[in-house]
Formats: sequence, structure tokens, C-alpha cells
Amino acid sequence: MRSFLTILLPIFLFSLISVPSPVIAWGEEGHKTVGQIAQNFLQPAIAGSVANLFQDKSFDGQLSLAAVWADEVKHQRGSPFFGWSSPLHFLDTQDNPGKSCSVNMQRDCPDARCVVGAITNYTTQLDCTNGYDKFTRDIALRFLAHFYGDITQPLHVCGREKGGNEVKVTFDGDSANLHAIWDTQMVEKRLQDFGSDFSQYADFLTKEIQSGKYASQKNDWVSCISSPKAPTLCPLTWAIDTNAINCPFVWDTVDNNPDADLGGSYYQDAVPIIDQQLSKGGYRLGVFLNSILSKNC
Ligand SMILES: *[C@@H]1O[C@H](CO)[C@@H](O)[C@H](O)[C@H]1NC(C)=O
Repeated sequence: MRSFLTILLPIFLFSLISVPSPVIAWGEEGHKTVGQIAQNFLQPAIAGSVANLFQDKSFDGQLSLAAVWADEVKHQRGSPFFGWSSPLHFLDTQDNPGKSCSVNMQRDCPDARCVVGAITNYTTQLDCTNGYDKFTRDIALRFLAHFYGDITQPLHVCGREKGGNEVKVTFDGDSANLHAIWDTQMVEKRLQDFGSDFSQYADFLTKEIQSGKYASQKNDWVSCISSPKAPTLCPLTWAIDTNAINCPFVWDTVDNNPDADLGGSYYQDAVPIIDQQLSKGGYRLGVFLNSILSKNC
């Protein structure tokens, strides 16, 4: 079975590359931005290790390209291999956003099959001291490059109305749902400020992290990574941080002014949050990889 998979899986994965993907979740551009910010922070030797781990050469060794893989395989209908991973992209909190927000793993994710449990799981698999094979570590890195983004999207850490998927909204005159505008429409609108080029947006945010408006906060974003309990402590810490954005901002307008077009002042107010959340995801991923991939095995 093992050698069968070793031969067949790369072929299967390769066959996915040419298949156009449907609408995907933070959307493709958000995930690429997170991946590119992380790439900007990788030490040169670590960037080499990352490139070596990826068997799929279409990634060109880049986290920005690998970061969208988890959504592409999730959406392959009837996929024998990765359909099971869909619940790992989010955490459906049983709180009451708008009024009270909280994350409680016993209540919200008792079986660990959520983005918090998944980050713990794949961190363990990527860590070379645990002895997983190269193929497993490659897949673990692809998942982590994606989940480090998802865990910063407020509606990926929110169970209300399926993370807002069931909430119909208007965005710039078009009908949409609340989850989708956070994943995709608002990010794409923000990208227009950067010529719709995710790498320019990522470079802008990288400078904000290095010496701009996030310079004084960035150490807080990653402080858990140096803890011996990092694999469990970090994703929970980050989920709590993200979940709090649902109270009140994300839901305020839909609760109080449901007919508003969210492409207006709601979008303007969301921009600093989107900038900051993508920056957190990217910076954390870069710092985390510099740490975990520097171990000698
Ligand atoms: C952990 O990783 C394995 C291998 O990909 C997967 O089968 C399992 O579902 C994962 N569990 C979680 C909670 O992420």
C-alpha cells in the first residue's frame, strides 16, 4: 500500500495542476499573499529546505504557490485522498458573535478535526525530529502554508451561520455571502490598490511588519513559537485572537443594517483588519519555518 501510494500519489497530484479550480477559500489571493510574506522572511538556508521539501516542482519552491494547494485538492469532488481535509480549514465556535465571542476546544473541536488541531498535527509531522518521511513532511508543509492563513480569517474561526456562508449580503452591487466577501471579494478589492498583484501587496505588508505600523506588535504575534508547547499553544492562541474580531466588527453591520452594501464603509473599515490578519499569518509562517526547519536531524 505504501509503495503504491508513493508511486501513484505524485501522479495524481500532478494531474490536479491542470484542472481549473472553482471559487476557493481566504481566496487564492489571500493565501498567496500570506505565503509570499512568509517567503520574504525566510532565511536563505530555510528557503532552500522549503524548496527541497516540495516534490511538486510547479510550486517553484514558493510558499505562495504551495499555499493554495490545500483548497485545490479539497475541491476535487470524489477525491479519494483529500476530501476528508475540508473540516480542517476552520473552527466552528459555538459562541454568539455579535454578543459574545470565545473559543473552547472541548465545546468546539473535541475531536481535534479543525484548524487548531490540524496545525498541531501537521507541525508534528513537519518536525524532522519525529522521523516522518519526506512525502509526509511535504504534505504537512503544504497544509501548514494554507492553515496559517485560514486561522487568521475571522469567519474561519466562527460557527455562526456556517461562518457567515449562509448570510446573504450585497457587495459593490452584487449579491454575495458574508464568508465569501472576507475570503475573496474584499481581498481582491484591496489588491486593486497594488495593481492586483499579490506580491506587491505582500511586499508592502512585509515593510509594515519590518519597520512600519506592525513593527512594534510583530513580536507578540509570534511569541508562542518559542514555547515548548508551541504546537498546541500557538494555534489556540491565534484562533482566540482571530475569533475576537467577530465581536463586534464582522457581524455589526449585518445585524444592524442588513441591507447595507458592504463594499462601502464596511469595506473601508475592514481594510486595516485584512492587512493586519494577512500580515500575522505570513509573519508567523515565516518565523515558524525558520525555527522548525533549522533543527538538525
Ligand atoms: C493528521 O494528519 C493525517 C495525515 O494527513 C490525517 O489523516 C489526519 O486526518 C490529520 N488529523 C488532523 C486533526 O489534522
